Amino acid sequence: MKGNSLKIAVIGGGSSYTPELIEGFIKNYNELPVKELYLVDIPEGEEKLNIVGSLAKRMLEEADVPIELHLTTDRKKAIKGADFVTTQIRVGMLDARARDEQIPLKYNRIGQETTGAGGFAKAIRTIPVILDICKEIEELAPDAFLLNFTNPAGIVTEAVLKHSNVKTIGLCNLPIGTQMQVASWFDVKPSDVSLEMVGINHLNWTTKVEVNGVNVTHDVLTRANNSGLHVKNIPDLGWEPQLLKSINALPCAYHRYYYMPEQMLKEQIEKSKTEGTRADVVKEVENDLFEKYKDPNLKVKPKELEKRGGAYYSEAAVQLICSIYNNKKDTQIVNVRNNGLIKQLPDDVSIEVNCVIDRNGAHPIQIETELSPHIRGLLQVVKAYEELTVTAAVKGDYGIALQALITHPLVADSDVAKKILDDILRENRHYLPQFV
Ligand code: G6P
Repeated sequence: MKGNSLKIAVIGGGSSYTPELIEGFIKNYNELPVKELYLVDIPEGEEKLNIVGSLAKRMLEEADVPIELHLTTDRKKAIKGADFVTTQIRVGMLDARARDEQIPLKYNRIGQETTGAGGFAKAIRTIPVILDICKEIEELAPDAFLLNFTNPAGIVTEAVLKHSNVKTIGLCNLPIGTQMQVASWFDVKPSDVSLEMVGINHLNWTTKVEVNGVNVTHDVLTRANNSGLHVKNIPDLGWEPQLLKSINALPCAYHRYYYMPEQMLKEQIEKSKTEGTRADVVKEVENDLFEKYKDPNLKVKPKELEKRGGAYYSEAAVQLICSIYNNKKDTQIVNVRNNGLIKQLPDDVSIEVNCVIDRNGAHPIQIETELSPHIRGLLQVVKAYEELTVTAAVKGDYGIALQALITHPLVADSDVAKKILDDILRENRHYLPQFV
């Protein structure tokens, strides 16, 4: 990594989340002196790129931070010689997300963009594009780290780990969001809170919580009974108290789809009739955001961005880059290759666990808590689904795609799986050349 010429490429730079990232680079400039920042997007996203890019320029000028900002649709130019590449892309944009959420609902299945059949559709659309990006990184920036925030983050990261030579780390905002929420419950700084998390992306359990070195796991579980850890895009239905007590670990927000699928489905069906699916809500939030971004007097990240589920994403991303760049050896919860850490899962899959971050990347830390049969069982099933999804996406194999969907607990019926798969393949054919 070159001391005075740090280059970062943000793929999907036209995303509404970009001001978060810019704010993060501004706040951390002293520790992370970024020289060149490339925001890159596809030609269809150029209008958004220009709007968000102009706001980014104003933010940098206002903060008087000398980062050279480049806006481009030339991905190779952005990647060439980069030290860090981040991906925050949405293949097919929000219209594709809307379809991912609607198709399963037709068959009385959960329609969610990262898990179940919706997450599957997003994965098979996204993996080929990310692997193309990886080929460019291998050629043009072989030493770069790829930090992937693109959902489904665990599956996409696993595809990169299995099918490229790029150094990659998968990133999600849920761990940092949990840390923030616990900090607010105990009225301490987020840095006073340490978590032990184990699992895979959007299916991880917090097995230990410490505040200033004191184990407060029990208090957190009691508190979570009344008010679950909340993320903007998932209804806060609380937890079955006896179940929580017995598991003795805090589920993540996405566990609600597994632990209370009927209630969640009912909720989704009702909402889809009134406000539409989450994609429809996000479209409106985005339209409002982009209107705000156009205002030449706006020079900071607008508050309304907090309406998106990915809040604190920038903190997580910038913290990670900072720790690699400065060889900090601190602990962060990210997605990496298992390598035997969770011994009940294959070595080559991605897991989301506590890792030490240094200049060579993320190194998983031994998990202190023994996995209960409940955690192990659910993890193994969903991980099997993820492995099959990666293979199906790479090979374009219909049978394996069907196996993937049947394996997922939120689909679990071959007749339904086939109907959903056929709809997904038909409605996404433009994005799925591998299945032709
Ligand atoms: C959560 C997840 C992210 C996801 C986001 C969606 O926070 O951890 O992986 O991208 O929600 O938020 P949205 O506002 O797009 O529904």
